[in-house]
Amino acid sequence: MNNQLFNFDLLVDRRDSDSCKWSLYSEVDVLPLWVADTDFMVAPAITDALQRRVAHGIFGYTNTPIRLNELIVERMQRLYNWAIDPSWLVWMPGVVGSMHVACRSLCDATHSVLIPSVAYPYFHSAPGLSGCNSQLMVMTRSNRRWVIDLEKLALQIDNSSQLMLFCNPHNPGGAVYTVSELSALAELMVSNDLIVCSDEIHCDLVLEAGMPHIPIASLNKAIEKRSITLMAPSKTFNIAGLSCSFAIIPDEAMRLKFSQASKGIIPYLNLLGMTAAQAAYEYGDDWNNQQIDYLRANRDYLSIEINRIRGLKLDPIEATYLAWIDVSELKLIDPKAFFEAAGVGLSAGDEFGDNNYLRLNFGCPRSLLEEAVKRIEIAVDVHWSDP
Ligand SMILES: Cc1ncc(COP(=O)(O)O)c(C=O)c1O
Repeated sequence: MNNQLFNFDLLVDRRDSDSCKWSLYSEVDVLPLWVADTDFMVAPAITDALQRRVAHGIFGYTNTPIRLNELIVERMQRLYNWAIDPSWLVWMPGVVGSMHVACRSLCDATHSVLIPSVAYPYFHSAPGLSGCNSQLMVMTRSNRRWVIDLEKLALQIDNSSQLMLFCNPHNPGGAVYTVSELSALAELMVSNDLIVCSDEIHCDLVLEAGMPHIPIASLNKAIEKRSITLMAPSKTFNIAGLSCSFAIIPDEAMRLKFSQASKGIIPYLNLLGMTAAQAAYEYGDDWNNQQIDYLRANRDYLSIEINRIRGLKLDPIEATYLAWIDVSELKLIDPKAFFEAAGVGLSAGDEFGDNNYLRLNFGCPRSLLEEAVKRIEIAVDVHWSDP
């Protein structure tokens, strides 16, 4: 039994590391709680594996390690009772690239891609950049959870609809979709002969006990055949800079189209990314379990504090380290700029499809989060005293 405790309270100085997150505010006193990577030191098993690989001293073109494929197959079986074949795996530098390749390989200018109205920004831009059309699926807030309005969706699907980009767990809303929600969606996909590209990059970051992540493709053979599932170790293990992700594409013809569309555009996989991914999936569970506990405590703290501040609202977050905060009552023209001026760097809601919100990344040591909350509270107090 491993009793090693990992220190998520540790403040690691990222200012001189070319970090996207920290470089944005290098000249000003703004706490960066925006782009989705965490400020946690990675699991020592990952650093050890990288150091061993670097010590080898040769970094030529590299095949995907057989063990890495085995780990994914075992993982899908163990976590989701989903039996996948290693030949279904397509390794890719990133999930965003895979979304674009999915659009390019499966759609042409006559096709439409269904995209959630509230979503990670690339969901909105991928169809257009890939030369196809998009149809906005309305997301509604139901019982304080962001869900797709299936009734509206059923009416929206037409002859041009070909592919749906789906996000589970949902960024920025934080919902983990239940088996009945997923089954209803899958039924709609299958009955309308649609393909689902399901971005499940946040699957290992479920904070709510008793809410298991379920890959939509694992529900039944009919939806499995019509699916592309995208996952990665990057969000969970804080290795986004190492560019490593995978697509699970059960249907051979679809897989071939996907690989064909990638040819000459998607580069060889970064060997250090694969080294880190293998170490993460082989040895990282204990680290991630402790991370989940830490994030859950951060979430609980943040929910209480944000909902205490007049004019701010935060719904329950089932997964991810991202908080989707409703700031509409403050009636701000530029919510992001308002909080930046107060020393907190958040993601603008309009980038995700709703300017009434801001997204806050709470994947950071508690002391940093507490300082951010303090600044938010002071700024809102001043706003109400002098609106
Ligand atoms: C839902 C979602 N998909 C994809 C990505 C980015 O994935 P990648 O860096 O592998 O392209 C993110 C990053 O925040 C995300 O939240």
